Amino acid sequence: MKKRSVVCGISSFLPENTLTNFDLEKIVDTSDEWITTRTGIKTRHVVGDSQYVHDISVKSAQTTLERAQITPEMIDCVLVATTTSEKRCPSSAARVQDMIGAKNAFAFDIQAACSGFIYGLAIADSFIKSETCKNILLIGADTLTLFTDWTDRSTCILFGDGAGSCIVRAPTEGDDRGIVTTKLYSDGSKHDLITIENSEKNCFRGYMTMRGQAVFKCGIENMYQAMVDVLEQTNMTFDDIDWIVPHQANKRIFDSMHKIKGIPIEKVILTIDHHANTSSASIPLALDEAINSGKVRQGDTVMLTALGAGIVWSAAIVKL
Ligand code: UT7
Repeated sequence: MKKRSVVCGISSFLPENTLTNFDLEKIVDTSDEWITTRTGIKTRHVVGDSQYVHDISVKSAQTTLERAQITPEMIDCVLVATTTSEKRCPSSAARVQDMIGAKNAFAFDIQAACSGFIYGLAIADSFIKSETCKNILLIGADTLTLFTDWTDRSTCILFGDGAGSCIVRAPTEGDDRGIVTTKLYSDGSKHDLITIENSEKNCFRGYMTMRGQAVFKCGIENMYQAMVDVLEQTNMTFDDIDWIVPHQANKRIFDSMHKIKGIPIEKVILTIDHHANTSSASIPLALDEAINSGKVRQGDTVMLTALGAGIVWSAAIVKL
């Protein structure tokens, strides 16, 4: 039986404030009808004043520790996948490590945009397999609404804030649950498709810009290819996958993938209607909700896939 890095304690946190499409109608020239039909989004959560990536990360992490039944001292690494830390430096991971009292852990952020959570799984898996770590706290958290140009209707309707987390831990004898495989990709020639510029003298935050249609096409092609690659790598087919939990960027990406590529749409878990695009948090947020609702169960095999700024993209198969 293969020894795999176990993924447990999946949790998430959403800030209390919400912003509906109807609220956005009052800010920019848009409509609930346009946003719903073009993206699938109805509402999103947004951070409050003085609420940053490390704050929402800690909320999610505390539930993860309870669910995984481990103490902060048992954690030997804290990874935060994020592009929207309060400060360029120090990392959000270092803040989280201190705030939860993980005094035996080293900590760093992963900057892989919307692919950050899967990049984090791959890094955690390597640390576990090399026996560098036993218990890794992995968090995906973003607050893109703090980097949103609220006068640009083509982007300001897309994003929400949130955090999701899990523990990646060393395998237990006789248990085949865990990370089956991961695959990471990058094509920096497409660096200008999604950007957050540094603003002048760093006095203000830069805003997100995106060439939506080009990213949409990459989303279909690259995420589909990544899923096919990890299936081939493991001699599996979509029949062996119970659920597909993708990065939640646009409902139509998966409708198109179903129509053009024939992916089993009934297995795709979508929470974009009430989460919007939460970048690196979107996969653990969707997973946590699906587990809490009883849809996804222990022992299920899930396929994860994501694509974001870089462009960087990825896929993973995890037996929960
Ligand atoms: O998380 C990283 C990965 N991100 C993604 O995967 C995002 C991928 N891209 C998308 O999801 C879509 O491209 C968007 C949702 C961003 C945009 O949808 P689209 O169907 O590609 O719209 P478009 O940019 O082609 O714009 C179509 C029309 C334009 O008007 P004209 O030029 O046809 O008159 C836009 O000005 O829709 C207009 N438009 C809007 N209208 C009402 C753009 N934004 C809005 C809006 N409300 N919010």
